[in-house]
Amino acid sequence: MRKLSAIALLLTMVIFSNADARVKVKGQGDKINFDPDAIAPEFRASFDLMNRKCTRCHTMEMVVTAVQTGRAPVTGQRFGKQAVKAYGIKMLRRSNTDMNKQEIRNVVLLLNYLLDENAK
Ligand code: HEC
Repeated sequence: MRKLSAIALLLTMVIFSNADARVKVKGQGDKINFDPDAIAPEFRASFDLMNRKCTRCHTMEMVVTAVQTGRAPVTGQRFGKQAVKAYGIKMLRRSNTDMNKQEIRNVVLLLNYLLDENAK
C-alpha cells in the first residue's frame, strides 16, 4: 500500500510539474500568442519578426499549440528542435514565405528557446 501511494504521489508531482512547465501565453483562440513579457530580451527582436512574418498564412495559435503540446497541429508529427529546423527549411523553400535565411535562422533559434522554456 505504501508503495502505491508513493507512486501516486510521484505521478501527481510529474503531472503538476508538467502543467506548470508551460511557456507563458496571452489571449485565447486565434488571438493566442506567447506572452511578450515572458520572452528574454535577447529574443524580443526575433519575436517581433515571427509575429510579422509567420502570421500571413495562419495565426500564432498554430505555433503556440505546437510548442505547448510538442505536436505539430496539422501533420501531428512530434514538434521538437529537429522538427523546428525542418519546418524552417520548408518555409525557406516556399517562394511566398518572404523570409531570408537569416530571418528563418532567428525564428528557429527563438522556437528552440520557447521549447526549452516550455520544458522547464
Ligand atoms: C506562405 C504561408 C505560410 C507562412 C508565411 C508560414 N506558414 Fe506555417 N504553415 C503554412 C501552411 C500551409 C501550414 C499547413 C501544414 C503545412 O503545409 O506544412 C502551416 C503549418 C505550420 C505549423 C504546423 C506544422 C505541422 O506539421 O502541423 C507550424 C508549427 C507553423 N506553420 C509555423 C510557422 C512559423 C514559425 C512560420 C514563420 C517562420 C510560419 N509557419 C509561416 C503556411 C505558412
